[in-house]
Amino acid sequence: MLDIRNIVILTGAGISAESGIATFRGPGGLWEGHRVEDVCTPEALARNPALVHRFYDERRAALAGVAANPAHDALARLDREWHGELLIVTQNVDDLHERAGAHRLVHMHGELRSALCGACGVRETWTGALPPESECPNCGTCALRPDIVFFGEMPYHMERIEAAIAAADLFVSIGTSGAVYPAAGFVQMADACGADTLELNLERSAGSGLFADSRLGAASVLVPEWVERLLAAQSTQSSPMSR
Ligand code: OAD
Repeated sequence: MLDIRNIVILTGAGISAESGIATFRGPGGLWEGHRVEDVCTPEALARNPALVHRFYDERRAALAGVAANPAHDALARLDREWHGELLIVTQNVDDLHERAGAHRLVHMHGELRSALCGACGVRETWTGALPPESECPNCGTCALRPDIVFFGEMPYHMERIEAAIAAADLFVSIGTSGAVYPAAGFVQMADACGADTLELNLERSAGSGLFADSRLGAASVLVPEWVERLLAAQSTQSSPMSR
């Protein structure tokens, strides 16, 4: 049994699937009918800004019609009640973790409800449509783009994430296919740093074999069960806890 105090949780599209947000690698490998290269690369933005902006406008607008599910709620509860260090690292660009009430959270692939100025680098909360060449409220340059980390760009918060993984006793991956780096490599990093590793996913992922334990099922079921068990162990804790 491992003594668990510091936890890092990586979430992916699978945790929001039961809220009605499509995963990336759905049938045919398309994301909402588009190839990732057509909507999620700097080249796509330069080649066809209207398409890229419209695509993210649609995804941003769709957020109004969805709600957090029991998996987001359970992680928010863990965030409130866990006495040790905790960091939720989401690859998701939706805001369902925040809406459920999570605070110890970073968005490594950006956020739909944020705009980024390509000129001065400032970020603005953005809830409506973002037409190409919208004016930056900070510097006045017409260079606002969706605040999404495109393929080929550096994910956000990497220093903080790597430091949290280095100090983690437990690394948990929820609802991610393990297809996109650097997130897909976090399990090996955690393992090398001595953390226990657990995967909660609907089906076996590309990285399942890298985890000490892999549990298959819907996030809305597995995550609340896991959180309940962890918090129950914490409340009776004088002895070491298990994952
Ligand atoms: P994927 O679409 O690649 O994988 C989603 C995973 O969730 C799959 O392994 C599914 O089996 C699993 N899944 C689906 N429904 C589930 C459920 N109800 N409960 C539990 N698991 C479920 O999405 P990500 O791994 O998040 O990057 O994709 C990673 C990145 O690729 C995204 O952040 C995005 C994309 O390109 C950027 O936008 C930069």
